[in-house]
Amino acid sequence: MGDNAKFSINGDNYEYPVLSGTEGPDVVDIRKLYGQTGAFTYDPGFTSTASCESELTFIDGGEGVLLHRGYPIEQLAENSSFMEVAHLLLRGELPTADEYSDFTNTITRHTMVHEQLRGFYQGFRRDAHPMAIMCGVVGALSAFYHDSTDINDPAQRMIASHRLVAKMPTIAAMAYKYSIGQPFVYPDNELSYTGNFLRMTFGVPAEEYVVNPAIEKAMDRIFILHADHEQNASTSTVRLAGSSGANPFACIAAGIACLWGPAHGGANEAALNMLKEIGHPDRIPEYIARAKDKDDPFRLMGFGHRVYKNYDPRASVMQETVREVFDTLKVKDPVFEVALQLEEMALNDPYFIDKKLFPNVDFYSGIILSAIGFPTSMFTVLFALARTVGWVAQWNEMISDPGQRIGRPRQLYTGPTKRDYVSIDKR
Ligand code: CMC
Repeated sequence: MGDNAKFSINGDNYEYPVLSGTEGPDVVDIRKLYGQTGAFTYDPGFTSTASCESELTFIDGGEGVLLHRGYPIEQLAENSSFMEVAHLLLRGELPTADEYSDFTNTITRHTMVHEQLRGFYQGFRRDAHPMAIMCGVVGALSAFYHDSTDINDPAQRMIASHRLVAKMPTIAAMAYKYSIGQPFVYPDNELSYTGNFLRMTFGVPAEEYVVNPAIEKAMDRIFILHADHEQNASTSTVRLAGSSGANPFACIAAGIACLWGPAHGGANEAALNMLKEIGHPDRIPEYIARAKDKDDPFRLMGFGHRVYKNYDPRASVMQETVREVFDTLKVKDPVFEVALQLEEMALNDPYFIDKKLFPNVDFYSGIILSAIGFPTSMFTVLFALARTVGWVAQWNEMISDPGQRIGRPRQLYTGPTKRDYVSIDKR
């Protein structure tokens, strides 16, 4: 703990403790501020507010560092697997060989969904956005698994968490299959988490599907890169929803809804659409000029980040992965060339330099996913699939915190002051 922070309002002086974490900025503990001074703090968008204490993920946006329980994302992406990272986030440590086999076995045994859940898909129009289906179907899980919803029981919380991580690929693949009018493919327990997802997505019952190990590895790495990202909008949504004691499956559906927006998980879809629209390196300056124009709402999608004021470390891994996937599939994509040149041009432009705008994770992910065969509408679904483990780990951490209370922000009210009701004939 550092020195107290001194605060003065209306002529009175107050002191608030300054708390230090293991990494990152100190925080001023203002929990007693309102009780003592009658004032709130004002921080729309939470740019300066730590909403919780967490041991899961640390980001140093200035340095471009992302750690999960202390391990750098680059090392995890290079050496680990999504199941290992899921274990790390949920259970606190990288697994031993026995723990790994036990954990993957548990997740694998939960990959099927209740047969009745299939009926939910029929209620959606064929052209429904798969994220709309994800919000609905994941929310509907709350009506099925009543044996894992006592949030005060750590064992039940873990079962709900395993179910969510395990069923998400099945639900996501079903959303895709429904949109293209193909039959749902049941999970295959012989395959890895990621291989199984690829088979449920791209396989058909009429043929044997052989998982391409290089694509499986690339996809697994994409899942690792998206597994958690501390207190972003969707994670904060899950925590806020969960803080009322709500059903865990419903909380994750709330996170999916938040993730959908183009400023958050929807950016990968928007980034690829933008790169395709640019189409040729010759047109890049036109788009850079638009992004800089204050009167044009256009932004370079996949650029900029609330926290990273340096290269997003996930974007570097993603860029390498694009090359690996292209080599494996022996494809070339002019969109990748546009992306590389756009990045170079933006990184040398004073507007982007001054505002510290760098490529984020979404800049390159769409190019890989498209090469693998996913339509753009599935990109955010894949983000949701991978982020589910982060959401449930954060939710578990919050519920097991003895100091946990319902989240209830305050406001600066600027509406009318008290006035008397006027009957309709007198208005
Ligand atoms: N293109 C052009 N200008 C930009 C961009 C961009 N992509 N991003 C930020 N700016 C400018 C913005 O106009 C503002 O300028 P000024 O100070 O002159 O008003 C300044 O940079 C700061 O932007 P901000 O909107 O105040 O920053 P923020 O922290 O509220 O927003 C962001 C962060 C990610 C929403 C924003 O950078 C953005 O809209 N980027 C494009 C969408 C995107 O790629 N989102 C994915 C985020 S990473 C994955 C995830 O978290 O889900």
